[in-house]
Amino acid sequence: MAALRTSLRSLSPSAIKALHITGRSGVQISVRNASIAQAALRNILDSQISDIQQAGTWKNERVISTKQASEIAVQGRNDKLLNFCANNYLGLSSHPEVIQAAKDALEKYGNGLSSVRFICGTQDIHKELEEKISRFHEREDAILYACCFDANTGLFEALLSPDDALLSDELNHASIIDGVRLCKAKKFKYKNKDMADLESKLKEAEGARMKLIITDGVFSMDGKVAPLNEICDLAEKYGALTFVDECHATGFLGETGRGTEEYLNCKGRVDIINSTLGKALAVEQVFDLLMNGSDLIKKVAENTKLFRTKMTAAGFNIIGEVTQ
Ligand SMILES: Cc1ncc(COP(=O)(O)O)c(C=O)c1O
Repeated sequence: MAALRTSLRSLSPSAIKALHITGRSGVQISVRNASIAQAALRNILDSQISDIQQAGTWKNERVISTKQASEIAVQGRNDKLLNFCANNYLGLSSHPEVIQAAKDALEKYGNGLSSVRFICGTQDIHKELEEKISRFHEREDAILYACCFDANTGLFEALLSPDDALLSDELNHASIIDGVRLCKAKKFKYKNKDMADLESKLKEAEGARMKLIITDGVFSMDGKVAPLNEICDLAEKYGALTFVDECHATGFLGETGRGTEEYLNCKGRVDIINSTLGKALAVEQVFDLLMNGSDLIKKVAENTKLFRTKMTAAGFNIIGEVTQ
């Protein structure tokens, strides 16, 4: 069958249309239809890709052949490149302690669980990490998902019903937008960081069983910081819950890296914090490093200040908010 499929690939759709194949059992095999469908898919994709290229939004993958770092090597270049686009905020993904901890865990627990958590895929290290994360954020509990994208697509649907309402900032991350789509609650989109618009949407949502305001802490689109205090004030006034996505804040924003709440002096006001272990934080050891006090946070703030000052002096317009 595999050899047959391979040779079919080289045939044109019209040639494939004429093919009827009878298997050894005498049963007709429907390779014909699959191949026509594949050819149609290819045509559709070719045309979409060409539209994307013409719009100037096509993106080639850059293949990195070193660890993530400030200087990286990429395939097709002999020189090293300065890397400004990773979210390795604290430079910890290649930290020797982090690498050693990952090796130790591999040695002790093996690679992967061969099961989902719901069945028998929870280990003591998951529970320890969840306990550490809730202690780090001074929250009642935490739950791990495979990544923040998953958490954002899983949470709203699980929490809210058609009797509820959610109010989402228009510049929220794509994963929140997907999560909102999956959820059956009534949906309200408010203008980016616009508290008057949020308030009017909260009034429209009156009568809902539960209301949830959803915002990025630091917006991935432009580095601006959400007005969390004002959002929490409105939430209190209208009896709403608050959710903040801290992917671009946890670990380095605020004096001790607790994120937007700490940076804006409103620790403990947000109901649900969602974040990632795929950017500033790499493994459990990072929480130990940060909770024991680390000058990494200070260093990243100093580097940011230096970068902003020098780039502005060199004539560049640096967007995002000046923090710390
Ligand atoms: C604001 C925001 N939320 C969620 C995610 C998804 O995070 P993860 O890489 O853990 O899936 C990202 C990643 O780009 C992000 O920037």
